[in-house]
Amino acid sequence: MLKAVILIGGPQKGTRFRPLSLELPKPLFPVAGFPIIYHHIEACSKISSIKEVVLIGVYQPSEALNRFINATQREFSIAIRYLQEYATLGTAGGLYHFRDQLLSGQPEGFLVFNGDICCKFPLAEMLEFHKSATNKPHFTMLATEATRKQSVNYGCLVENADTHEVMHYVEKPETFVSTIINCGLYLLAPEIFKHIANVFQKNQSEIINGDPLFPTKDSIRFEQDVLSPLAGTGELFVYKTNNFWSQIKSAGSAIYANRLYLSLYHETHPDRLAQNSSNGPQIIGDVYIHPTAHVDPTATLGPNVTVGAGVTIGPGVRVRECMILEGAVLQDHCCILHSIIGWNSTVGAWSRVEGTPNDPNPNAPHAKVDSDALFNIEGKLNPSITILGDSVTVPPEVIILNAIVLPDKKMDGSFKNQILL
Ligand code: GTP
Repeated sequence: MLKAVILIGGPQKGTRFRPLSLELPKPLFPVAGFPIIYHHIEACSKISSIKEVVLIGVYQPSEALNRFINATQREFSIAIRYLQEYATLGTAGGLYHFRDQLLSGQPEGFLVFNGDICCKFPLAEMLEFHKSATNKPHFTMLATEATRKQSVNYGCLVENADTHEVMHYVEKPETFVSTIINCGLYLLAPEIFKHIANVFQKNQSEIINGDPLFPTKDSIRFEQDVLSPLAGTGELFVYKTNNFWSQIKSAGSAIYANRLYLSLYHETHPDRLAQNSSNGPQIIGDVYIHPTAHVDPTATLGPNVTVGAGVTIGPGVRVRECMILEGAVLQDHCCILHSIIGWNSTVGAWSRVEGTPNDPNPNAPHAKVDSDALFNIEGKLNPSITILGDSVTVPPEVIILNAIVLPDKKMDGSFKNQILL
């Protein structure tokens, strides 16, 4: 029996996701029609030995989180529960704090996921690899290839090419270490708790000088404090994937993840992809339309568009590379490109809402750097997607270009390269 753990962070994390995370915890933000961590749980549901999914985070329990847990455990017939940390304990501190609950039932191991990754989740292959690596208790991490330049933004590792043992691990190195990067998905034998306990004991005896995000001595970083020392001990192995992998940090990377999950639907859920029909809108490429959305047959959608529940899309509307969130209204002939339209927002007739794509390096299909700063060194907003927060109103016949608009704003004209409060 295995358990899955998804680290979902808390309100102090995910700041690059604002204003969208002001309304909803980031792990519940819908990508390709479903909450970010729904994709993790769906992958777990396909592995029969996973009997429970534990979400660990710092969010206050909320109606949205409870509703998600109840609906998802019903859908996949898998037990899901939420354990709340009393403070931000870091990527290993929560595991340690809740070790008794996690170890109850004596699982043989744990699949631990960073909540903000997006990938094909090769769980069956990883389990197979893990079993074959050695007979001693050990740990396996998922990794992928990045470019030299991208790699330093991630955890980098050096492997023994014959045994796939991890010989060296550095989190976000200052200089180049390796193009093999940590994907934030681990398969851990229960012995991992001994290693985390060693770090915990050491931390208790030291004065931790202030990272304000980790205000307690109980916080432990899995990557730096646990993985780095494990490298070269014969206990840590790497399973590499060539399939797509990305992190969802900023709203811009959610658009990219949306595209990746939509393309995966060809394999996993062709029924989720909209098709052209004589009485429906024109569909170009990969498009997901929630069954409760109303789309006028003269609209054109795609490629890479997700339309949420209860959305209304009027005649002649054009949408491309976008996420239109629940309850939004796109009035006649408006044009929406490279943007996220927030919940219940309205875009007036003949208006244009447009962002500038920041596509990943085409030479690195498996990874995407998301270090894009919001502002450049001159203090100007970097080109990026346009985001309308919750319940924003865009009047008819205006242009909104590369803008971030905070919730409830009633706009009264055209705007370009601005953050609108
Ligand atoms: P950044 O680029 O700085 O964001 O680093 P990173 O990509 O390594 O991410 P980070 O280690 O901050 O987080 C990885 C995952 O763990 C994310 O899904 C976070 O939400 C989650 N996480 C981070 N810190 C905590 C924590 O203190 N508690 C819990 N439960 N989850 C956390």
